[in-house]
Amino acid sequence: MLEAASAIEAIDLLAHNVQQAQQLVSRLLIDDGWNAIEVDKVVQGWILQGDYLLRSRSSESADFVVGNPPYIRLEDVPEVRMAAYRRSCNTMGGRADIYVGFYEKGLVSLKSDGKLAFICADRWMRNQYGRGLRQLIARQYSMDLALIMHDVDAFEDQVSAYPAITVISNRTQGTAIAADTRRSFSSAQAHEFASWTTSSNDQYVDTETYHAARLPHWFAGDDSWPSASPARLAMLEELSQRYQLLEDRRTGTRVGIGVATGADKIFITDRADLVETDRLLPLSMVRDTKTGIFEWNGSYLVNPWDSAGNLVDLTNYPRLASYFKRHASVLRKRHIAIKQPSRWYKTIDKVDPHLTAQPKLLLPDMKMTIHPVLDEGGYYPHHNLYFIVSDSWDLRVLGGLMLSKVAEAFVEAYAVKMRGGTLRFQAQYLRKIRVPNQDDIDESTCNALREAFEKRDSSAATEAALRAYGLDHLPD
Ligand SMILES: C[S@@+](CC[C@H](N)C(=O)[O-])C[C@H]1O[C@@H](n2cnc3c(N)ncnc32)[C@H](O)[C@@H]1O
Repeated sequence: MLEAASAIEAIDLLAHNVQQAQQLVSRLLIDDGWNAIEVDKVVQGWILQGDYLLRSRSSESADFVVGNPPYIRLEDVPEVRMAAYRRSCNTMGGRADIYVGFYEKGLVSLKSDGKLAFICADRWMRNQYGRGLRQLIARQYSMDLALIMHDVDAFEDQVSAYPAITVISNRTQGTAIAADTRRSFSSAQAHEFASWTTSSNDQYVDTETYHAARLPHWFAGDDSWPSASPARLAMLEELSQRYQLLEDRRTGTRVGIGVATGADKIFITDRADLVETDRLLPLSMVRDTKTGIFEWNGSYLVNPWDSAGNLVDLTNYPRLASYFKRHASVLRKRHIAIKQPSRWYKTIDKVDPHLTAQPKLLLPDMKMTIHPVLDEGGYYPHHNLYFIVSDSWDLRVLGGLMLSKVAEAFVEAYAVKMRGGTLRFQAQYLRKIRVPNQDDIDESTCNALREAFEKRDSSAATEAALRAYGLDHLPD
């Protein structure tokens, strides 16, 4: 009994919850044959009222931390307490939920090789406010298990909180398990799953109520962690071990976004005689990419930038000057013009003078499927288009890879899906795509990728891409 007295420390903020927990635990121990007189004393020492985020506690003292932390937006916590939480927990930046602080406190209290297991919302794995926590884990801990339980009725009360069970340990990252449950997952299957995690060496398991995969590592870094079926996550992790990122200095490959103007109605025209000819820059727009073959519809940027990347002097361009002056009231109202009144006719982004001539793959942002389209050069992309340029890739081969479901799987796992399943092909997601070296792709696969791209045949592109990536199939 004495040995047990200092073995557990449990904290809740509310006296009522503390009492309830003490009674429950006392009853369990007495039923288990413990001495009723001593039980109360021990249990009162174990279960304490306090604020877990503010208590002073020596670090690295716990073998295990388990918890079901509260979900409360920091902005719903009284201001003084909120400030204290922020001082006490480095990872609670931005609009963090307070469960982030529970993770931090729990993790730093772990002894070497100690383990933390929480049932908690999984939003921190992907959103902005979870970045600090992801960084802490990526640097010092090992994500051992993420069991996603979105459809499971995990709590007595009806809470819509994207629950997940995570196990994290205080050691360098080892193998990890990604798992997902289906609606009917309940405690019997939880036991079955737990025994799979400890007693099986299989890489995959797929049952009616859960599916899981073993990954050689967890995803490195503090960027949003991907979301996909366990088997897909295993594939993405494997590819990220094997291949480099699409954007790479060594291959001179870059992902970017087209020019934002802040006043498209004024800066974009289809009138080829509107101002001096050399002030009109042919602009590629989403509608030019519709069919998959680039077809310019005749839009121009009314370009205030010269070929050295400087804003032009309007006195050298009387027609441009009079056009901009006619629209000065609208142009000057833009945030960018208010900030720099003397440069009131600039577009939000500078025009990169080298980009126009470069061949590029264009990708419209919001689409159901990935849609790379080749501009052979001569057009400048508009803001709704993302582009890929490269010094070394044959863009038709790369286009074949980009058209494939393998490339799409990266974007799908990292991007937040919109209603109706529309995907966002923004630069930050395209930059997650991993690609093999072009030199390592055999000639017939290169030809197949090129041909699939030219024919806009996504299944042929996927088939060839699987070969290029050394995969035998694309998991669902
Ligand atoms: C999701 S409930 C979990 C309750 C119980 N531990 C369980 O697992 O069923 C979260 C609990 O955290 C407690 N809580 C909220 N803020 C807290 C804090 N700063 N320190 C300690 N406990 C806190 C709440 O009172 C509530 O009982």
